[in-house]
Amino acid sequence: MHIRRALIVDTESVYELIDMYAVQGQLLHRTRQSIYEHLQCFYVAVDDVKRIMGVASLHILDRDLAEIRSLVVLPGMALKGIGRALVDALVKEATILGIPRVIALTYQDGFFEKCGFVKINKETLSQKIWKDCLHCSKYNNCDEIAMQIMV
Ligand SMILES: CC(C)(COP(=O)(O)OP(=O)(O)OC[C@H]1O[C@@H](n2cnc3c(N)ncnc32)[C@H](O)[C@@H]1OP(=O)(O)O)[C@@H](O)C(=O)NCCC(=O)NCCS
Repeated sequence: MHIRRALIVDTESVYELIDMYAVQGQLLHRTRQSIYEHLQCFYVAVDDVKRIMGVASLHILDRDLAEIRSLVVLPGMALKGIGRALVDALVKEATILGIPRVIALTYQDGFFEKCGFVKINKETLSQKIWKDCLHCSKYNNCDEIAMQIMV
């Protein structure tokens, strides 16, 4: 398994993988168009036969802040280190870009803690973060946990 940047040919696999969990309400839905427009933000985990096992994206929110979004691992491939490898790749990307702080809004706080993140007060986050949340049915009632890592 290795991590690489997403390519345009990966779009359908990325879309299907995110959708699988989005329909269960575990993360925000992404349209194919949104994946095209943000393709440069996406990384994928690929196995030896080039099958996509996981996906995640890093979105720059501000001069000193980036967010991990759309992190999913193929059902059946959980707990094999794929999620952590994707998070590590995104954190490394933030470091290369000179962005000191990476956040995630998640229900998987235990997983992010294993990746070195700590819980923070959601209310302290800048309004820029809530842009995507406008499309979420839980907007007024968000129960996701805010996590951050300083890189
Ligand atoms: C959350 C998710 C990305 C984790 O990926 P994964 O490949 O299964 O995780 P890893 O194997 O890399 O796990 C790394 C560590 O976190 C732990 N871990 C994984 N999932 C966990 C969870 N839900 N709760 C607590 N710990 C967890 C692992 O046991 C491992 O610990 P270790 O270092 O002691 O061995 C994956 O389960 C998933 O796709 N979930 C559904 C979609 C989702 O909720 N995405 C998050 C949106 S922010």
